[in-house]
Amino acid sequence: NSENTEEKQTLITGAHDADVTVATERHYTKNLAFAIAACVCGSSFMLGYNTGVVNTPAIIIKDFYNASYNKRQGTNSSKYLSTISISVLWATTVSVFALGGMIGGLSAGYWCNKYGRKGALLRNNLLHLLSAALMYYSNFLNSYEMLIAGRLLVGICAGINSGAAPLYLMEIAPTSLRGFAGVFNQLAINIGILVSQILGLDSVMGTKDLWPYDLGATVVPIVIMLCSLPWCPESPRYLMLTAMDENKAEKALIWLRETEDVGEDMDEMKREAETQTRMPEFAFMDLFRNKFFREPLTISVVLQLTQQFSGINAVIYYSTEIFKTAGLSAHWAEYATIATGGVNVVMTLVSAFLMDRVGRRTLLLVGVGGLLIFSAILALSLILIKELNITVVWLPYLAIVSVICYIIAFASGPGSIPWFMVAEIFSQGPRSAAVSVSTMVNWFSNFTVGLVFPLLNELAIHQYSFLPFVALLIIFLNFIYRRVPETKGKTFEQISLLFRRPDMMVYESIIQQDSINTP
Ligand code: GLC
Repeated sequence: NSENTEEKQTLITGAHDADVTVATERHYTKNLAFAIAACVCGSSFMLGYNTGVVNTPAIIIKDFYNASYNKRQGTNSSKYLSTISISVLWATTVSVFALGGMIGGLSAGYWCNKYGRKGALLRNNLLHLLSAALMYYSNFLNSYEMLIAGRLLVGICAGINSGAAPLYLMEIAPTSLRGFAGVFNQLAINIGILVSQILGLDSVMGTKDLWPYDLGATVVPIVIMLCSLPWCPESPRYLMLTAMDENKAEKALIWLRETEDVGEDMDEMKREAETQTRMPEFAFMDLFRNKFFREPLTISVVLQLTQQFSGINAVIYYSTEIFKTAGLSAHWAEYATIATGGVNVVMTLVSAFLMDRVGRRTLLLVGVGGLLIFSAILALSLILIKELNITVVWLPYLAIVSVICYIIAFASGPGSIPWFMVAEIFSQGPRSAAVSVSTMVNWFSNFTVGLVFPLLNELAIHQYSFLPFVALLIIFLNFIYRRVPETKGKTFEQISLLFRRPDMMVYESIIQQDSINTP
C-alpha cells in the first residue's frame, strides 16, 4: 500500500520525469505565433473587454436607464425609475454576462466537435456581431432591454470562446510549448480588461455621448479575427481524430511547425486514433459514469472553482473601492485600479515563459499559496482600518500592496492554468465534453461571486467579506498539493498514463499484443 501511495505521489509531482520519454523540443515558429495571436485577439480579448466594459461608466449607463424610461412614458412625463428598479436592472446588466457565459460554456464542446475549434470560433462571430449591435443601438432606441439582451448574447459568445480558444491553443502547440501557448488566452483576457478600463474613463469614452461606442467597440475583435484566423489551419488533432482526415492534419502540422518533419506528432496522433477506434464511442454522460474520468474531471472542476472562489473578480471589480477605503482619493483610486490591471497583464506575460520550465503544478502551488497569504493580509488590514478605526500611517499602504501582490500571485498561474489544463488531461474523445463542463463551472462560480459578494459586502459582513475566500483557498491549496499532477513536457499520451484512463489501458494492450506478435 505504501508503495502504491509512493507511486501515486511520484506521478503527481512528476519526480520521475526521467522515466518518461520526453517529446522532441520544438521552438515556436512565425506561423504558430500568428495562429495563437489570431485566436486570442479575436476571442479571449472580447471576453476580458466585456468583463470590464460596464464597470467604469456604470453611473452614466444608469442615468441612461432612467432617461429612456422617462422618455418612453411620453413627452412631459415626470415618471422615473425607482432607485431599487435601477439597482435591480443594473445588477442584471452586469451579471447576465456570466449567465450567458454558462450557457455558451456548456455548449462550447458541442460546437467544437461539430464545426471544429477554428470553425466554432469563426461562426461565433455572427452572434458576437448581433450582440454588439444590440448594445450599441440600445441608446438610440431608448431600450435598456436591448442592452441587457446584448449583454446576455455577448456572454454566450464569451462562454463559447472560453472553451474553444484554449482547446485550439492546446491542440496546435507542440508539447514543449503547450503551457506557453495556453497562457496567451489569459493574457488576452487581461489585456481586454485593461483596455476596457482605460476606454471607460470619463476622460476617454466613459461619457454620456460616447458610452454606446465603448460597448459597441467589441466589434473590433470580430474584424481582427475575420482578417486573420481564416489564414490559419484547423486544429491538427481535430482533423485527424474527429474529422478523420489524415492528409489535412499533416498539412496543418507542416504549416504550424514550418517543417516537413512532423512524423513524431503524426505518429502520436495515429496511435491515439488507433486506440480510439478500439473503444466504444464516447457519449457525454460517460464523463460522469466512467470511473476513469473521475479524477481528471474532479481536478478540472476544482481548478476552475479555485480560480473564481479566490475572489479575483471581487478584487478586480472592487479594487477602486478598496483603494478608496485604504485612503486614496477617487481620482487616484481609479488610476491605481488601472495600474493593477497593468500588473496583471505584465505578470501573466512573465508566467508564459515560466509555464513550460517551472511547470503547472509548482506555479499553481506558489500562486494559490500567494493568493491565500495576500487575501488574508488584505482582509486583516481592511478589518483594522474600518472596524477598529486604527489609523496607523502604514495600514492603507499595506492594503494597497496586498492587492498588488494578490494580483501577481493570481497571474503567476491560477489565472491561466485552469483554462487550459482541462484540455491537457483529457484525450480527444472526452476532451470537448470535459472542456464544456469545466467552462460552465467557471462561469457559474463567476456568476455566484458576482451576485453574493456585493450582498456580503454591502448588507452583511462588510469588511469581513474577503474572509470566506481565505477559508476556501486553504481547502483548494490542500487539494492541489495532494491531487494535481505535473503535465509540463508530457505528450497527451503520457498524461493519460498519469490517470490510467481507458484509452491508456487499450494503448497498453495494443503494445502488449504487438510484442506477442513480434517474434
Ligand atoms: C480569469 C477569470 C476571469 C477574470 C480574469 C481576471 O480569466 O476567468 O473571470 O476576470 O481571470 O484576470
